[in-house]
Amino acid sequence: MTDHLDAGYLRQALEHDVRAGLGARPKWLPPKWFYDAVGSDLFSQITRLPEYYPTRRELAILREHAADIAARSGADTLVELGSGTSEKTVLLLDALAARGLRAYLPVDVDAVTLREAADRLAARYPGVEVHAVCADFERHLGLLPRTGRRMVAFLGGTIGNLEPAAREVFLKSLRATLEPGESLLLGADLVKDTDRLIAAYDDPAGITAAFNRNVLHVLNRELNADFDPDAFDHVAIYDEGDDWIEMRLRATRPMRARVTALDLDVEFDQDEELRTEISAKFRPGPLMAELEAAGFTPAHLYTDPTGDFALILATA
Ligand code: SAH
Ligand code: AVI
Repeated sequence: MTDHLDAGYLRQALEHDVRAGLGARPKWLPPKWFYDAVGSDLFSQITRLPEYYPTRRELAILREHAADIAARSGADTLVELGSGTSEKTVLLLDALAARGLRAYLPVDVDAVTLREAADRLAARYPGVEVHAVCADFERHLGLLPRTGRRMVAFLGGTIGNLEPAAREVFLKSLRATLEPGESLLLGADLVKDTDRLIAAYDDPAGITAAFNRNVLHVLNRELNADFDPDAFDHVAIYDEGDDWIEMRLRATRPMRARVTALDLDVEFDQDEELRTEISAKFRPGPLMAELEAAGFTPAHLYTDPTGDFALILATA
């Protein structure tokens, strides 16, 4: 495993985000801090909830089309950004392995989940080099290995967790790291009925709420802070103007939290909200136009039979 996120880097990045986000009005934090080992496990539980359709839909698309994707891409190297447990990836890997896959490079910020997935897949594909890269896909794309003919998979709809301006920067930076003929396989959740969207982000079992509050546990541990996560309500709203879900944490009472490592006090009014994530929902046409604007050529659009989710194969 290559690690671009040593303790010093992580600490500096978290410090920067906490000072910037919790010092702003409204307060916000970037979603990447959800994902310590506990957060990744909660996300895995979310993917099995009946209300959370994206994982099942993307899996259905891969079951149907992985062989076609592998053939069209002509890739012998799969790079996966935000790979997590790499569960769905097995379908792609099987299809690519049948055509001579040489290497799989999962990339994630959560070193624990990344290493477990890499070990599991190295055992499953003995002839394939499995090279895990612990890195931030918003900062370290330029450091990823460039060998082989690559397909970069960015699955799960994680592209929707980037703000539009950050998304544009990300797509352009990614394009700049690829050679002509290499490809991007992009998973995107599609615009749909608002009630279904809200239900997917506000499940009755409270797993998404626990995932949301986990960011405060991460701050408590990493920055010696004393947030009371249970004093925040989980909020999921759909912004129809921007076509995105927003997850927020709402203070149930006036509070002051001490972030000892930063010598910082953070105050919340009663009902004040901290935005922890956007999850954008897309329309295929405009998303393909964004890819084109970033220098990709969208080559193929795959959707599931319900039209809930899309995979776009685009070439550099
Ligand atoms: N691809 C998997 C997991 C999605 S969850 C799936 O489709 O089910 C989002 C994943 O992206 C998590 O594993 C998280 O740790 C990772 N992640 C989030 N922000 C990241 C960043 N900035 N850089 C690298 N990985 C990131
Ligand atoms: C990782 N990402 C695509 C998930 C999503 O749906 O935006 C994260 C998540 N947030 C709440 N539930 C799942």
